[in-house]
Amino acid sequence: MILTRLLRRLFSAGPSRETHVFELSREGDPAVIARLPPLTSPPPERVSNFFSPMFWCTQEPEKVKSSARVIADLATSGHYFGDNLLTWGRNMSMLDDQPFVQAWQSNIESDADQAILWRRYVLACAAYHCVQLGGDFVECGAYTGVGMKTVIDYLGGREFPRTFWGYDLFEHEEGMLHHSMQEHGEGLYARVQQKFADYPQVRLLKGMIPDVFADGCPERIAYLHIDLNQAPAEIAALDHLFDRMVPGGILILDDYEWSGPYRVQKLAEDVWFDSRQYRVMPLPTGQGLIIKR
Ligand SMILES: C[S@@+](CC[C@H](N)C(=O)[O-])C[C@H]1O[C@@H](n2cnc3c(N)ncnc32)[C@H](O)[C@@H]1O
Repeated sequence: MILTRLLRRLFSAGPSRETHVFELSREGDPAVIARLPPLTSPPPERVSNFFSPMFWCTQEPEKVKSSARVIADLATSGHYFGDNLLTWGRNMSMLDDQPFVQAWQSNIESDADQAILWRRYVLACAAYHCVQLGGDFVECGAYTGVGMKTVIDYLGGREFPRTFWGYDLFEHEEGMLHHSMQEHGEGLYARVQQKFADYPQVRLLKGMIPDVFADGCPERIAYLHIDLNQAPAEIAALDHLFDRMVPGGILILDDYEWSGPYRVQKLAEDVWFDSRQYRVMPLPTGQGLIIKR
């Protein structure tokens, strides 16, 4: 009761809609202007729900879906189901962040892009932090470019102030370590290039990691998203890129906390990070997070 009154008083002043404009510059660097998305404060009593029928790792998807539906209906509001995550009683902050909702929704191309809402918000929040550091953005495993573009659109769209490097094979041949995905094929690279035609800050490089780094590689990295679905390439990416990350930069390993076929990635990455005295923070989304010292 007291808490509700306090929250009402707090929110009666109205949510902050201010866009923070930062001049980001380092000695010797040209000044960079970042327009950070304004905070959209939610009404204190309303909490959103999210239920997506897209998940993996089961032979019985219909039974899983109907069981999750029963649990979601029994639970309090603030439930999330999708992407192998079922939880309730959460604030569901991602659905209250209007600039993010717009960026996420306008980039959805598949059911998976929709289901991984929470993973995308982890990226968006990491990017909000990293855009205020000196350093470029990198995604290893750009695929359709949806993850990159969601982040870019959240942080100003065409005015996104950093160089964003996207690496991928864009094609798949039999016998490759990573599994083929629906959009892999001859036309994918051209399609993703077209998607970023009006974004001169995006540099897409087609080729095999780590060889492709010889074609271009940033010197200072603030944001690093590694999503290659296979251990050898992820370790090779870490070997090449981690030391280039600036202090305070954030690394997200997309598959770190997924088991099954992805478990070898975590096992290899744990050893790699342990030798450098880092512990990967496992997130309930299945991602792993590291803050560079
Ligand atoms: C899961 S997808 C990435 C999804 C994307 N990050 C997103 O958020 O939508 C994994 C991608 O890694 C790429 N990949 C795997 N091994 C690679 C390697 N050695 N070099 C370059 N790309 C690789 C695949 O081509 C595939 O497109």
